[in-house]
Amino acid sequence: MSNEIPIMPVETDNAHHRVIRTFVKRAGRTTTGQARALEILAPQFVLNFQNQMFDPMASWGQERAHLPMILEIGFGMGEATAKIAQSLPNINFLCCEVHQPGVGALLKRIEELDLKNIRIFSHDAVEILQQMIADNMLNGIHLFFPDPWHKKRHHKRRFMQAPIVALLCQKLKQGGYFHCATDWEPYAQQSLEVLRAQTQLKNSSTHENGYSDKPSYRPLTKFETRGLRLGHGVWDLIFTKK
Ligand SMILES: C[S@@+](CC[C@H](N)C(=O)[O-])C[C@H]1O[C@@H](n2cnc3c(N)ncnc32)[C@H](O)[C@@H]1O
Repeated sequence: MSNEIPIMPVETDNAHHRVIRTFVKRAGRTTTGQARALEILAPQFVLNFQNQMFDPMASWGQERAHLPMILEIGFGMGEATAKIAQSLPNINFLCCEVHQPGVGALLKRIEELDLKNIRIFSHDAVEILQQMIADNMLNGIHLFFPDPWHKKRHHKRRFMQAPIVALLCQKLKQGGYFHCATDWEPYAQQSLEVLRAQTQLKNSSTHENGYSDKPSYRPLTKFETRGLRLGHGVWDLIFTKK
């Protein structure tokens, strides 16, 4: 019997039956350092996307396989990812990013900081969740500054929509958390609505408005520091699975 899990499209473009992705692959220059990191370090730290459940023992080895595991979605250039992983060495981080220069950049940081607790998927996080992550497997999920897709006709590409949130929830362990941060207020509001509608999740916020204070483990990136200096807001949303 085949153990193939069908890919359930989160949303399809009905006319063409295409899966709507939360990203569009950007052309981006890969620096020499990133290219070198991709060539030399990828075999050790980048995992293959396959139609088979992620095996902690195979990826982390006996010493680390039992440790809590957090999935990060869309790490960009990996600035926050590397800082968090460095400050929490007893947590395993499984990190997804489709932008190749970003994967190279995180590999460089892994080498520079000698990080043992990061593995990377250079692939669509939605497909990773659907096909490779077992239900109730994750201790946490990080989604920092997801693409806001400002235009209304692009809202269908937003990560924070009910079917994807249901999928995230399914993969969290009981008591596990989902943490999203955004600097786009309308997106923060939409995210809050979608998360509140998911009955298996409980808001960790102690504020009436439903947003959480930035937890100390989430570092300020250069991008965020610049935004804050310009007077932009940032909204953190943290929900746990009941
Ligand atoms: C606006 S950037 C934010 C990057 C980073 N988290 C930060 O705070 O700087 C969003 C990133 O998410 C990635 N992304 C979007 N959808 C994704 C998906 N389904 N799987 C993996 N990466 C995704 C994009 O390639 C992009 O690099």
